[in-house]
Amino acid sequence: MSEIAKIELEGKTYEFPVITGTENEKAIDISKLRDTTGYVTLDTGYKNTGATKSAITFLDGEKGILHYRGYPIEQLAEKATFIEVAYLLIYGALPTQAQLDSFSNSITKHTLVHEDMKQFFEAYPAKAHPMGVLASMVCSLSTFYPESLDPNRSAEAKDLTIHRLLAKLPTLAAWSYKNAMRHPFMYPKNEYDYCGNFLHMMFAMPTEDYKIDPVVVSALNKLLILHADHEQNCSTSTVRIVGSSQANLYATISAGISALWGPLHGGANQAVIEMLEKIHNDGGDVDKWVAKAKDKDDPFRLMGFGHRVYKNFDPRATIIKKACDDVLEKMGINDPMLEIAKKLEKVALEDEYFKARNLYPNVDFYSGIIYRALGIPTEMFTVMFALGRLPGWISQWKEMTENNEPIGRPRQIYTGATPRDYVEISKR
Ligand code: SDX
Repeated sequence: MSEIAKIELEGKTYEFPVITGTENEKAIDISKLRDTTGYVTLDTGYKNTGATKSAITFLDGEKGILHYRGYPIEQLAEKATFIEVAYLLIYGALPTQAQLDSFSNSITKHTLVHEDMKQFFEAYPAKAHPMGVLASMVCSLSTFYPESLDPNRSAEAKDLTIHRLLAKLPTLAAWSYKNAMRHPFMYPKNEYDYCGNFLHMMFAMPTEDYKIDPVVVSALNKLLILHADHEQNCSTSTVRIVGSSQANLYATISAGISALWGPLHGGANQAVIEMLEKIHNDGGDVDKWVAKAKDKDDPFRLMGFGHRVYKNFDPRATIIKKACDDVLEKMGINDPMLEIAKKLEKVALEDEYFKARNLYPNVDFYSGIIYRALGIPTEMFTVMFALGRLPGWISQWKEMTENNEPIGRPRQIYTGATPRDYVEISKR
């Protein structure tokens, strides 16, 4: 017999169905609440509210579990490629070799960006933050592909738009960097795979090829896989709600990029390195900075620490921390920021304030150190997060559109002025 939840309001008892997910998560289905009781719920920040049912990603914050379509993140990070994981998230199953080849070839075919878009880059100042450039460029793709304006045109058209976006984001990301450096743009090369092509476009020059290092490619694959999806986080919820108005995919993903930019979300990886550099330049006294993070009167927070869902450990941080040691050792890099990060983590995890609030390193705490080792500049870190998260955003948008979910439109509780008459300006 299915469970029910009973709510007593003004002497009446109302019953609402309880739904249980495949991993035994439970929710009270309140979709009829307002119609039957006249009440709405209030949950600022949606800390207790499920926005949808999804078959894409499962995470258990207490146990530090993260699965993409049922596959543990630890196995995917170790054994899969990013493009393989992108296929898994978007189409729901690990691809056969033939499916992977077809998917990968289609992406390779669409890596070029319309030549007219190069003028947009030239209009940006050199100091333009690449996330601002990327969000604009992705939305601008909709102007070059007007057929994409109807997201429900056909399955083939939807797939073409998805492949175009997966293919062009690395090109746009690398060109955002080249533009900031005032370096000539490097075009994609079809002989490279996804990660190799991105590194080529980032670091090659017309006068000198970039030697693609398998250690770097392997680290990049792993980082992108670890960022690929994370159920209903801030930017994915943004993608779902913008997409629910039937806006085109380019505009929808552009909104997701903008949401990710915030330092409390994807922007944290840049903020972590800036924090570590500040502590390093301040003499490396981590106890002083941990004390600042605990001080309610001090706005300083330990960036890369804490998570809305993970109240134990972020499994991605565990994998990235180990990858940090591997990559820096293989590349012969001794980065003082890594030592400071490890000291900071040790002090914080032994501190009652952090333990009482279940604050642990999240995905952003160590990722920047690897990006630095790969030669990626700090302002590009959140762009790297967007590159990784793109297949997750696309898969969540695709699921939402294919489930014909209604336009997102939350309710509110009004706390403003009660009705009053207009007053002529002379009498105010
Ligand atoms: C990502 O949702 C996702 O899945 C996101 C993400 C993904 O893959 O999409 O995992 C990616 O965004 C990771 C998070 C990156 N952000 C940061 O590292 C920024 C620093 N962390 C925080 O600002 C904070 O921890 C959040 C935003 C991540 C979570 O905030 P919550 O869940 O709203 O918790 P909160 O801000 O209410 O904090 C609860 C308590 C507060 O203290 P009290 O008021 O109870 O005394 O913990 C404290 C906070 O002050 N706290 C911190 C802290 N994080 C929370 N104190 C010091 N340093 C911190 N980092």
